[in-house]
Amino acid sequence: MTIPIKQLKNGYEMPVFGFGTWQIGGDTRRNPVNDDLGQTAALVRAIEAGVTHIDTAERYAAGHAEEIVAEAIKNFDRTKLFIVSKVWPDHLKYKDVLKSAMASLKRLKADYLDIYLIHMPNHAIPITETMKAMDKLKSEGLLKNIGVSNFSVASLQEAQSVSPNKIVVNQVHYNLIYREPERSGLLSFCQKNDIFLEAWRPVEKGMLAGGGIHLLDTLCRKYNKSPAQIAINWLIFQKNVVTLAKMVNEKHLAENLGSFDWEMEKEDIEKLRQDFPGQKSISGAVPLQ
Ligand SMILES: NC(=O)c1ccc[n+]([C@@H]2O[C@H](COP(=O)([O-])OP(=O)(O)OC[C@H]3O[C@@H](n4cnc5c(N)ncnc54)[C@H](OP(=O)(O)O)[C@@H]3O)[C@@H](O)[C@H]2O)c1
Repeated sequence: MTIPIKQLKNGYEMPVFGFGTWQIGGDTRRNPVNDDLGQTAALVRAIEAGVTHIDTAERYAAGHAEEIVAEAIKNFDRTKLFIVSKVWPDHLKYKDVLKSAMASLKRLKADYLDIYLIHMPNHAIPITETMKAMDKLKSEGLLKNIGVSNFSVASLQEAQSVSPNKIVVNQVHYNLIYREPERSGLLSFCQKNDIFLEAWRPVEKGMLAGGGIHLLDTLCRKYNKSPAQIAINWLIFQKNVVTLAKMVNEKHLAENLGSFDWEMEKEDIEKLRQDFPGQKSISGAVPLQ
């Protein structure tokens, strides 16, 4: 299948859905007994099914997730893929950003990244320094675009104010439960300022994929879709919102890929926004900084 592409007003585009690699290859450390072959095969399966957007980070399994991605993408046309990596907040000094980017490219066996994200702010390091390094990497063609992650409106504005390059994406915790981007004004800021808000953890690690929530169950029946499909569809039909899930399990991949080619009525999208039970105003994992 073809994953739909979303476009900003400035022409910049990206796939509405990607494959996340947090907990591929390990946790924050490499897992010595990890099922590398199985996870590589899962990524290959996803690419063959039409997923071009793969999200990784130097932090994931201490770089090993990037190595698994490299193995998975090696027989595909790189120009048709959309590879994203991230620099960890300990590495936001000018020279460290350059070093991290080069190390990520080496592990990915890639010449460039489609987007390079600042994984989260580090207010102890001047953002001017970090953005200068990001700008240099872009000018050298090592990354096509610059993005951030877990940035509040204020941090995003500050980062943008010191770079001539547009920040095209802010990747944050957002789903039916976690509403910090709505309540903090970040979502409307991104919509007004032509920036993608990329929602990480769309199915809240499977929590949103089970039944038992009356509103979700009602909509599943109405649209003949599963809870995970409703949760993902709700995100991607919002202006400027894209998302990504980890889905090593073949069934999860197939299910999640059924989230795009149909639309909910506006009233149902709003009902989910207003009435979904147990909403939280702040991320339980990584709040905006
Ligand atoms: N920037 C950041 O700070 C940040 C933070 C967290 C995550 N992320 C990125 O966002 C990606 C997605 O977030 P996440 O991995 O934390 O959470 P997620 O995608 O919401 O959940 C992944 C978990 O849910 C399972 N799952 C996926 N689809 C399912 C379905 N349809 N039904 C039941 N279970 C399903 C997966 O199982 P299987 O894998 O076994 O299929 C996996 O255990 C990450 O992988 C990472 O790339 C970024």
